[in-house]
Amino acid sequence: MPFPEPASASLGPKTIRGSFLDFVDDPFYGSEEDSVRYLADGLMVLEAGKIKAFGPFEALQADYGSLPTTAYPERLIMPGFIDTHIHYPQTGMIAAYGEQLLEWLNQYTFPTEAKFQDQDYAREVADIFLDELLRNGTTTALVFAAVFPQSVDAFFEAADRRHLCMIAGKVMMDRHAPDFICDTAASSYEDSKALIQKWHKKGRLHYAVTPRFAITSTDEQLQLAGQLLQEFPDVYLHTHLCENVDEVAWVKELFPHCQGYLDAYDQAGLVTDRSVFAHGVQLTDGEFQRLSEAQSAIAFCPTSNLFLGSGLFKLEQAKSTEYPVKVGLGTDVGAGTSFSMLQTANEAYKVAQLRHQKLSPFKALFLATLGGARALCLENAIGNFEVGKAADFIVLDPRATPLMAFRNGAAAPTSLQELADRAFSLMMMGDDRAVQATYILGELAYENRP
Ligand code: GUN
Ligand code: ZN
Repeated sequence: MPFPEPASASLGPKTIRGSFLDFVDDPFYGSEEDSVRYLADGLMVLEAGKIKAFGPFEALQADYGSLPTTAYPERLIMPGFIDTHIHYPQTGMIAAYGEQLLEWLNQYTFPTEAKFQDQDYAREVADIFLDELLRNGTTTALVFAAVFPQSVDAFFEAADRRHLCMIAGKVMMDRHAPDFICDTAASSYEDSKALIQKWHKKGRLHYAVTPRFAITSTDEQLQLAGQLLQEFPDVYLHTHLCENVDEVAWVKELFPHCQGYLDAYDQAGLVTDRSVFAHGVQLTDGEFQRLSEAQSAIAFCPTSNLFLGSGLFKLEQAKSTEYPVKVGLGTDVGAGTSFSMLQTANEAYKVAQLRHQKLSPFKALFLATLGGARALCLENAIGNFEVGKAADFIVLDPRATPLMAFRNGAAAPTSLQELADRAFSLMMMGDDRAVQATYILGELAYENRP
């Protein structure tokens, strides 16, 4: 071809105009005024999938006003949500009736996950799962696959095709579950290693070493998980911790040589600054302290904790000034009952209420965005609208349903208080219907009404 093809319009720089809300700091530790950034009429300049400039429309108009623009009047544009704990193989078993954790695993979860030996089935579910994340405005997640390595391949292939920033891993489990979904300590080590070499840092993908929980791993398997973290220092550790009273009691029986549940992981070298522990409902004061020292993160999964009757997470203890622990929000689907991070924030608010605490809308939305990015050590790449970060963002409609339209006037909020009220209504009443569009690397990846 004698001349290069002209660059397509979508590959060149372009802008998004509207009202933007993101966080520049943690509102649990500083004032909300200093943590929240709100531009009632803002402009975001996108180039090559990243944020090239961001600020008030008036200030940027002279430099970028001539670029192609998409405007979203009467909407709220936010960074994509970050789900810090979810199981893709459990997509089809959401809302499984009547049991608490250990019975729920035996009765529903293990038979469901057995189906992921079939890679075609795994591919089908991976696509449904990722569609559902985007429909709900979730652009990054920390994901459990199943025990079968091919379930990880299916997931990463689907995520890579969509240019998503995702973290996932093969479940390691070598005891206390049916043979058909168990591996062995040695095979889990070998399979995980091969998957790390194949997928970790390929495009926007990252690997998490994923022992299911202390009950389903022998000491030997936990030690080998620790060895993987030594060999590959920038992979993650992802597991469950202190979710349910009966689970904690069983762990104490299985690990009599350990000080408690967290110590079973600690003695294997699994408590690091790249470790994410789901739940933590039953943590002791000493365990909170140890997580703080190690700079590990907790995924707070309120819909799951309520659904399985596990208990009420002590968010205020995790976010204490004395022993601060990184916290993100997790849906924990299929024990969680919604893919929506708005609905997850709603239930987090109610968990706080039951503990006589207040979770403000800004604190909740921080956990769903920049807080999640920090929990996943991804704050340099995603989580807010800082220039240079990936342009993964969502367009929320505060008037998405007749009732929301009735409650929320058309005018954009003009004060922090009005914004808080609008954000709170979104988190209490909003769900997938409130997500109008989801952008990945500056490109429209989902739109609910074209
Ligand atoms: N603990 C061990 N496995 C699981 C799981 O699949 N879901 C939840 N919620 N807790 C677990
Ligand atoms: Zn889980």
